[in-house]
Amino acid sequence: MNTIRFDAEQRLFQIQMRASYYAFRILDNGQIVHTGSGSLPENENVEPVLGRLDDYAETSYGLDSQVRRYELPTFGDISYHDVALKASFPQPAAKPATHESPNLPVRDVRLRYVSHEIRTDENPGLAPVHGVPTRKTQPRETLCVKLKDIAYDFRATLFYRITPEHDIIERWIELENATSMEVAIESLAFGTLNLPNGEYEVTRPTGCWNREFTAVRQNLEQGKLLIDQQGLNTGHAGNPFFLLNERGGVTESAGDVWFGALAYSGNWCLRFEVLPSNTVRVHGGYELSDFSISLAPGGKHRTPAMVHGCAGDGRGGASRRLHRFIREYVLPDSAALRPVLYNSWDATYFDINLEKQMELVRLAASIGVELFCIDDGWFGSRRNDRAGLGDWVVSEEIFPGGLKPLTQEIRRLGMKFGLWVEPEMVNPDSDLYRAHPDWILHFPGRPRTEGRHQLILDFGRSEVVEHMFGVLDALVRDHDVDFFKWDMNRYASEPGSVVGKAIWQKHVAAVYSLFDRLRGAHPKLSIQSCSAGGGRVDIGMFGRADQVWASDNSDAHDRVIIEDGFSLAYPPRAMECWVTNEENPLTKRIASLDLRFDVAMRGALGIGSALNRLSAEELDAYKRKIEFYKKIRPVVQEGDLYRLSLGLEGGVSIWEIVLPDASRAVYSIAVINLAQGRFRTPARLRALDAASVYAVIDEKGTELGRYSGYQLMTLGLPGDTASGGHGGAIRSRTLLLERIK
Ligand code: DGJ
Repeated sequence: MNTIRFDAEQRLFQIQMRASYYAFRILDNGQIVHTGSGSLPENENVEPVLGRLDDYAETSYGLDSQVRRYELPTFGDISYHDVALKASFPQPAAKPATHESPNLPVRDVRLRYVSHEIRTDENPGLAPVHGVPTRKTQPRETLCVKLKDIAYDFRATLFYRITPEHDIIERWIELENATSMEVAIESLAFGTLNLPNGEYEVTRPTGCWNREFTAVRQNLEQGKLLIDQQGLNTGHAGNPFFLLNERGGVTESAGDVWFGALAYSGNWCLRFEVLPSNTVRVHGGYELSDFSISLAPGGKHRTPAMVHGCAGDGRGGASRRLHRFIREYVLPDSAALRPVLYNSWDATYFDINLEKQMELVRLAASIGVELFCIDDGWFGSRRNDRAGLGDWVVSEEIFPGGLKPLTQEIRRLGMKFGLWVEPEMVNPDSDLYRAHPDWILHFPGRPRTEGRHQLILDFGRSEVVEHMFGVLDALVRDHDVDFFKWDMNRYASEPGSVVGKAIWQKHVAAVYSLFDRLRGAHPKLSIQSCSAGGGRVDIGMFGRADQVWASDNSDAHDRVIIEDGFSLAYPPRAMECWVTNEENPLTKRIASLDLRFDVAMRGALGIGSALNRLSAEELDAYKRKIEFYKKIRPVVQEGDLYRLSLGLEGGVSIWEIVLPDASRAVYSIAVINLAQGRFRTPARLRALDAASVYAVIDEKGTELGRYSGYQLMTLGLPGDTASGGHGGAIRSRTLLLERIK
């Protein structure tokens, strides 16, 4: 079956994927109108589903009824609803007629169909160019639909790249100014998703520093809902993804869910619009408060991608599609499992020196850590957060003789070596700033606001980006760095740049280019994206980072909520999670070692505890648990996630992660609200092999029982249903289920 078809008679495009479809059509006047999308019945039916134009007909009883579902709604024609594209032309296309007045600029774009083709080698704007392969590399079909304005030689191409096995379409737009005048682009989405008419609710992440990825669900009412980030990172208050479903009836495991996410790490916005007719659409693209792209004659702009799809098997189905897509087609080098990391930030903050780090290196190696990362404070005069940022030379004061003694020991003990960097920033009290006070974002004659005592480098200047590449490249070479923790610790203010308003996109492009050049030059280098916790997590970043820091909050009680929310769109293998001290460094809450490990083992495990303050017994327990993690790691990092219960909906978060062949699964429960005296219904497991028998093994290697897949999927696991009571209730546990016959 062809994935993309064109019915020439009806002028209808139909994209048919494994379990969903997407269709649109060319009207007689050349406009492109969406005709349907949704899940397909589960069978081998290959009958094309075309969508019906009549369902979306324009009514004619007044302007309020503009309900057509344009694939690219533009400011022009009759457009008083939200649009995906607005452009401004300083000159008329032709000499005005005698009855016309010179009302300029012309702000009216009417794009009409010109031609289409299917290509196999297309990429969206800002796609990674580092050359580190993703797990799947085969070319995918991309439908390109070319449009042109009715009068200006102003063109747009709509791109639809299809990943049929995951029901995913990546959308992006390329604009081309073939006129002889400069055209200002004043609004631009990467794509517009039209939904079937109805009453919807949206599930989306909200938060702040230390509370990232907290999912909320809200009804979409008539009007607009804007979620955005005015920044140079992805942000903490929101994250560019959403799940949408008709109100009622949809659960983790059932019902149609339309999902979307942006592959972009800067000034993004998602605009949801419900018209009086219950027409619903979502525009995903650039945030508009300080937006403008100036297209010179002959100029082109290709947007990053909006990734979207429809799952018929509930929110869990939507998440699993995104996870697989990201694991297979986005993350670089995802064949390798993520190593167990140690980072002393939460244990020591800026109090680091050779002797203390050496002690931690040895202790880390003794408990099974595989990657040792030195966090902030190793360079220049950076003994606190007021000075030294920008001066990327090893501090002789705390590392006499440099890093070599430490890195040699790290290698001798068989670990990899990582370094923290924050390349986009500078403390005013630094040699870099003293040498180049003009290199930072600012407006002349205006204040330069500091955030965490730091200013932002102007990545609109190519010499600044070159300087940073030289610095980072030299660090990798000089110290044989295996891993960077790339941090970014403030929001943007006074965004004055040599490139003007283009700085929003240029900064993101420059950050991506640095990641890409570093990875290209050092193929074994891996990178973690961090931005004051989870401020830079998105599909654009996943194209060049191996893992992300989802939050500085490692308090297990809070963390499960963050993990539940993160996992709505992003895969566990990319989520770095630390076990930290018994008393949490930020929230000061005490949590047992079991709970801390059970929660941190749901992603790429890291240790952030003060190992030098632990007893021999505690270190033994760490060692045993890390060994157990290594056993379950292939399942956690490669399996499909089923959220059996959510922390925010009842106080118990239960994850089951199952290998695609159902041979092994990991069951992880964390109880954050002991509902005294209540008994929970056991969570029924999913996606096991009903006819097989599974051994259930705990972290000590003890076999707790043997159950058939059938039993586990109907009755669940025995033993963790009681809350509260006289100490008998389970607070958390992680179990490995192994198919034995
Ligand atoms: C913020 C990060 O989220 C922390 O993990 C740590 O690296 C600090 N920055 C260091 O300044």
